[in-house]
Amino acid sequence: MTYPERSVLSVPGSRPELFEKALGTEADLVFLDLEDSVIEGMKAEARRLVVQAVRELDWRGRPRSVRINALDSVHWFSDVLELIEQAGAFLDLIIVPKVEHAAAFRSLCILLDQLEATAGLGRRIQVEVQLETAPGILHAATIAAASERLRSLVFGPGDYAASVGMPMTAIGVTDQWDAAYGGSRLDYPMHQLLVAARAYGLRAIDGPYADFRDLDGLRRAALRARALGYDGKWCIHPSQIAVVNEVFTPTREEIAWAQEVLRSFREAEQRGQGATAIGSTMVDAASVRMAESTLARARAAGFDV
Ligand code: COA
Ligand code: MG
Repeated sequence: MTYPERSVLSVPGSRPELFEKALGTEADLVFLDLEDSVIEGMKAEARRLVVQAVRELDWRGRPRSVRINALDSVHWFSDVLELIEQAGAFLDLIIVPKVEHAAAFRSLCILLDQLEATAGLGRRIQVEVQLETAPGILHAATIAAASERLRSLVFGPGDYAASVGMPMTAIGVTDQWDAAYGGSRLDYPMHQLLVAARAYGLRAIDGPYADFRDLDGLRRAALRARALGYDGKWCIHPSQIAVVNEVFTPTREEIAWAQEVLRSFREAEQRGQGATAIGSTMVDAASVRMAESTLARARAAGFDV
């Protein structure tokens, strides 16, 4: 199943009163969380609620998606088992947090193979992984290469900051520490994740911005990810979705420029030229690839270009 992924809304699996609200938003992807937004004492109850929601709710064409607990927790095995045994025929996508090593991730994928076969699903559930610790970022390439189920790599700024000892006042925000540092403190892990994702044909998705009333700060963080080449960003509150959708949709100017580049290049080709100029800007085959990348993004966002 293909799906757009500019905005990804997280909903705590222990709060069923939010499920319908989340599915009624403009978020491209919605997932029900069994991990960090659910307290230890509610894990089993959340799993039951999530199984029911995957089976019964109207997801409005979106993939039915659940974030399971991390592979070093005592919960993930029951998460996967119950999800597939009880809702496997409905489930489309599993998000796995804190993936650190390709080997452990591959074990999960083998378990999925087994459970899918036993349930007679006849199709593969897709997977996204969060790289949000020092080992996860270090092993980004081998993790990205580990399974054909993978669709996206997702950066996790809060857990990453904790993992490497980086002070950060709230998840994904910029604060006085960024001012003290100068450049972008998340540039290295975000770039590493991006390159690993692209090397294996995957999407790169940024994590959330915790201050859901600070839409200017959210926009800056989303633009930083978009400027790097990321495809989308997580949201934790419905108020964030419009900003994120806007930032990750190519503007009309970008689309018009991409089309102009393709037009000029085709005309130049007719004249036997591989390089031409639009005004004072040189355009060649690399410009065409850049333009095609913009148009692919536009198509993913629903533009007929
Ligand atoms: N999904 C769906 N609806 C949500 C929502 C979400 N993630 N977050 C808030 N809402 C709803 C509220 O229920 C409320 O609905 P109402 O107007 O019908 O009462 C409305 O949006 C406004 O919410 P607000 O009062 O501003 O926020 P809050 O204080 O109730 O909740 C949070 C704030 C952060 C606790 C909540 O947004 C949340 O739990 N987000 C998800 C956290 C998460 O999943 N974390 C893990 C992944 S990073
Ligand atoms: Mg996390």
